[in-house]
Amino acid sequence: MLQNRVFLAILLLAAQFLMQIHETDAKVPALIVFGDSTVDSGNNNQISTVLKSNFEPYGRDYFDGKATGRFSNGRIAPDFISEGLGLKNAVPAYLDPAYNIADFATGVCFASAGTGLDNATSDVLSVVPLWKEVEYYKEYQTRLRSFMGEEKANEVIKEALYLISIGTNDFLENYYLVPRKYRKYTVDEYQDLLIGIAGEFLTDIYRLGGRKMTFSGLTPFGCLPLERTTQILYGSKCIEEYNIVAKDFNTKMEEKVFKLNKELNGLQLVFSNPYDLVSDIINHPEAFGFENVRSACCGTGYYEMSYLCDKMNPFTCSDASKYVFWDSFHPTEKTSSIVANYVLQNDLSRFK
Ligand SMILES: *[C@@H]1O[C@H](CO)[C@@H](O)[C@H](O)[C@H]1NC(C)=O
Repeated sequence: MLQNRVFLAILLLAAQFLMQIHETDAKVPALIVFGDSTVDSGNNNQISTVLKSNFEPYGRDYFDGKATGRFSNGRIAPDFISEGLGLKNAVPAYLDPAYNIADFATGVCFASAGTGLDNATSDVLSVVPLWKEVEYYKEYQTRLRSFMGEEKANEVIKEALYLISIGTNDFLENYYLVPRKYRKYTVDEYQDLLIGIAGEFLTDIYRLGGRKMTFSGLTPFGCLPLERTTQILYGSKCIEEYNIVAKDFNTKMEEKVFKLNKELNGLQLVFSNPYDLVSDIINHPEAFGFENVRSACCGTGYYEMSYLCDKMNPFTCSDASKYVFWDSFHPTEKTSSIVANYVLQNDLSRFK
């Protein structure tokens, strides 16, 4: 009898211990963001590029109606993801002098609107190339170590969730802007090149100590209002060729993610793929409470973004929550929150 009780007690203790391990395992101390305008919270404000959004009406539904440099009327997906992980309700931009390393200890964004996996993409609008985002991240590690001490900083680096969202600009701002006969690669070859660069980037972050990562799939970018506008004479339909490119890229990237998880010991890399959800939103906007998907809220909604979307533009809509897109290239806050919640529940729940 006594032996049984002792045995039971040991079992209970062991169970408790395992649950504790599990809990600490799942706790994410910081959200660290890399990528393009889908996740940039204001880094482009600090560099000389024309691709900015730190003026009205950008940010008019953000806290205090502040234009932060987010390409949105309010918050963007990483802000909602950060909040969903129990961290801050907005992720600060690394280059923003209003924040310091104490702010960045629980979340930091290195993303730059207009950038891509391919170095040539970031050159188009003189924005931060991905390799430079990694350089900033290395500098961040050094600052974090002197701020909280080597051991604690290493723990944050290891347990943080790394969120990467990039790739659309490589096609729309780079590959497809080059006339067909001057292109160096077929689109298939170009996808492979980009996947290779993404793999190297993720491996770099792993070597620098990161373990929990999520790489976002591309959304149907052939349905962005700016792309539909090029089809205006043909009924403003989505450019299906682009949507297929996005899907193919996602399939290849998913394979890459599978491979990396096998190759790199201890890596927990999740491919999060909101393609189908965004496709549903675009095809059935009313089911999500939207009234308009073809044109964006800002300006006429057909082509404006950045400086063309400014407060002098008389056509801007009054209620952005009725629109899937805020400017001709970027979702509204409402769309971003739907996507972020989906990603949190379906792809990131194990990191919570
Ligand atoms: C991009 O440019 C950087 C800096 O010149 C270089 O180190 C890196 O290898 C380049 N990346 C690719 C994929 O060419």
